[in-house]
Amino acid sequence: MLLHLFFLLSLFLTFIDNGTAGKTSAFVRTQFPSVDIPLENEVLAVPKGYNAPQQVHISQGDYNGKAVIITWVTADAPGSSQVRYGLSKGKYDFTAEGTLTNYTFYKYKSGYIHQCLVSGLQYDTKYYYEIGKGDSARNFWFETPPEVDPDASYKFGIIGDLGQTYNSLSTLQHYMQSGAKSVLFVGDLSYADRYQYNDVGVRWDTFGRLIEQSTAYQPWIWSAGNHEIEYFPYMGEVFPFRSFLSRYPTPYRASKSSNPLWYAIRRASAHIIVLSSYSPFVKYTPQWHWLKHELKKVNREKTPWLIVLMHVPLYNSNEAHFMEGESMRAAYERWFVKYRVDIIFAGHVHAYERSYRISNIHYNVSGGDAYPVPDKTAPIYITVGDGGNSEGLASRFRDPQPEYSAFREASYGHSTLEIKNRTHAFYHWNRNDDGNKVTTDSFTLHNQYWGSGGRRRKLNKNHLHTLILDRPSTALF
Ligand SMILES: *[C@@H]1O[C@H](CO)[C@@H](O)[C@H](O)[C@H]1NC(C)=O
Ligand SMILES: *[C@@H]1O[C@H](CO)[C@@H](O)[C@H](O)[C@H]1NC(C)=O
Ligand SMILES: *[C@@H]1O[C@H](CO)[C@@H](O)[C@H](O)[C@H]1NC(C)=O
Ligand SMILES: [Fe+2]
Repeated sequence: MLLHLFFLLSLFLTFIDNGTAGKTSAFVRTQFPSVDIPLENEVLAVPKGYNAPQQVHISQGDYNGKAVIITWVTADAPGSSQVRYGLSKGKYDFTAEGTLTNYTFYKYKSGYIHQCLVSGLQYDTKYYYEIGKGDSARNFWFETPPEVDPDASYKFGIIGDLGQTYNSLSTLQHYMQSGAKSVLFVGDLSYADRYQYNDVGVRWDTFGRLIEQSTAYQPWIWSAGNHEIEYFPYMGEVFPFRSFLSRYPTPYRASKSSNPLWYAIRRASAHIIVLSSYSPFVKYTPQWHWLKHELKKVNREKTPWLIVLMHVPLYNSNEAHFMEGESMRAAYERWFVKYRVDIIFAGHVHAYERSYRISNIHYNVSGGDAYPVPDKTAPIYITVGDGGNSEGLASRFRDPQPEYSAFREASYGHSTLEIKNRTHAFYHWNRNDDGNKVTTDSFTLHNQYWGSGGRRRKLNKNHLHTLILDRPSTALF
């Protein structure tokens, strides 16, 4: 008991000493109402031409970034699933053949969903591509990432809980000004499940058309949230994730996953692990086995940056969804600390929050510290469920702000993570501020494996690193 008091006191002093007491931002602004953009708005318009490809989006198609999966929908007829591509605009020397699928949801019949894997690409190259036929053909481009290399620089965006309101559009447009090359999406895409019957399918289509302005040109790395589950017995729809799985393919086989809802990719200097908050994850489940194996495969000498995506945050001090991540935290937090994950991004809570490096792994049901403590080897937890969907903001934070919470604000926005090299990355959270993009929270992230200035490497050689790095410390990043 005394020991605990002493520990709490020293924890408190630590935060005071460093001047790093958590901040709750009081920022309030006039915002767009949280309503979906009406169907007739031009940003949701169907492209002109008979059977023109629509809802075009790409994702990484393999483990290392030399392939993309291009997905689109044709509404009038099956049409062609062929992608023509090449190194300059209008000069398509290569073709790839895709596959066609369709599904029903209640009485809604989806369009023809084309998925085409374009593989064997060169790294760091701009490709132009064309889909559709004749007058209805449409042209886009994308860039492949640099080769997997510890010092490859790369800029990611992070978006969550996007939806299809005017706030969603604002987030999307601000993101597109950021210069980032790929989105790490932390779940809850269209919020189509807030509609009923045939409108669910209709709103998946409008969402696909809304985001095409970005997703046709750069890969978004998808993870699933609760709004993807769509378990609706009253409509006879009980197959979970049906719309999401039909429309947003992931390269799960490339990481030996048995399920599209959890998988990993490597991109430039990052190893990205996508988890499913709404699939079984306790010990012995397929996701647990897969994650255990995937974490062992991570090679920080090749991909220094280890990033995990999930929908439900493990640390959240908002009244909304408070403690919903506890079960996954109990299952996986120990691994995240052991493998020195750099950052864990989550969504779900419609606000922004960043944690200090803390862990709560000493607690077990028969004893130990039952609260989070500063832990230099732990990840930083960031919640960006603030994309701007029709449910509105989660504006009630718990009071007082817990010690683990570094910064929190209930407004809309997106983040970027700009990796410079193996030791440094710059992180920004950009609020949507009355039509402007305003950086509100930012810091320099030092790699958890390489540290700053290659210190880690030196320690490795001297076999001192476990002694020094495993001790909880006052330095938080
Ligand atoms: C898929 O499309 C084919 C061809 O138009 C059609 O016959 C079939 O009913 C559709 N299937 C579903 C599940 O909608
Ligand atoms: C649980 O924590 C207590 C106190 O730290 C410790 O003595 C015990 O060995 C732990 N038990 C397990 C199973 O880790
Ligand atoms: C890594 O990037 C940081 C930030 O730009 C820079 O200060 C540092 O010198 C770089 N390190 C190396 C080894 O290039
Ligand atoms: Fe959610």
